[in-house]
Amino acid sequence: MDQHPLPGSVPAPTQRKRFRVQHLIEHKAAGRKLTMLTAYDTITGRIFDAAGVDMLLVGDSMGDNVLGYENTIPVTLDEMIVSARSVARAAKHSMVVADLPFGSYEASPQQAFASAARMLKEAGVQAVKIEGGERIVKHVELLTQSGIPVFGHLGFTPQSENMLGGKRIQGRSDEAAERLCEDALALQDAGAVAVVLEMVPAPVAARATEILRIPTIGIGAGSVVDGQVLVWTDMAGMGDWSPRFAKQFGQVGAALAAATEAYVSEVQAQTFPGPEHQYDH
Ligand code: KIV
Repeated sequence: MDQHPLPGSVPAPTQRKRFRVQHLIEHKAAGRKLTMLTAYDTITGRIFDAAGVDMLLVGDSMGDNVLGYENTIPVTLDEMIVSARSVARAAKHSMVVADLPFGSYEASPQQAFASAARMLKEAGVQAVKIEGGERIVKHVELLTQSGIPVFGHLGFTPQSENMLGGKRIQGRSDEAAERLCEDALALQDAGAVAVVLEMVPAPVAARATEILRIPTIGIGAGSVVDGQVLVWTDMAGMGDWSPRFAKQFGQVGAALAAATEAYVSEVQAQTFPGPEHQYDH
């Protein structure tokens, strides 16, 4: 008899098919929560892909989490392409989505197309994400018509943090909540395949989720959304701090520090390498 995986279960890696755009709508319709996690390199990409994450986001959060920048604004398209390529090489099942960084798409739909085309051709990702609502509708239309799936990003949009006055919850007033929902509908009408909602009050995210046909993916947007995304270093507990909306599902930073200290002390004590680690011929 054919074995069918239980709804919501992660099939063994060999049975898993590539997660594709049509699965976004299917998951929403079936009420199956979507999972997305950032990844910036092959090592983490391989682990998250094998663990069953639906989508790997090569986020420009790489700027503050990996490259040592203060925020996402200095990240360049060339830096994003190197990172996205290394994740795409690792991902056998997860869909790989890459951010278009600040300055690589805002000027015109044509600029967005040129940057997104580089992402697909040079990095091998399956979709791109861009920040903004009404103001980027024409960009989303052109990319979509050109065969490039686009994820929208509303609420707190880190590339605009200077205009937003820092990292602040968005959509708090009735007017701002209404505008956010209108932006989400405009992105959907333009062809976006999903919308990320970052740092938005839970009832506002729930409202957007209700009115949209395409899925919402929340980060600091509560539980009434179609999926969740986290920055992997927050999820895994790499640092001693993470935002209130993120849960640390492990203490990987502490484990890495302990392993490093053990290595240093064994080299200094001359207990590593031992005979089993050396070549005698
Ligand atoms: O760059 C990123 O990691 C993101 C997430 C916060 C959604 O855009």
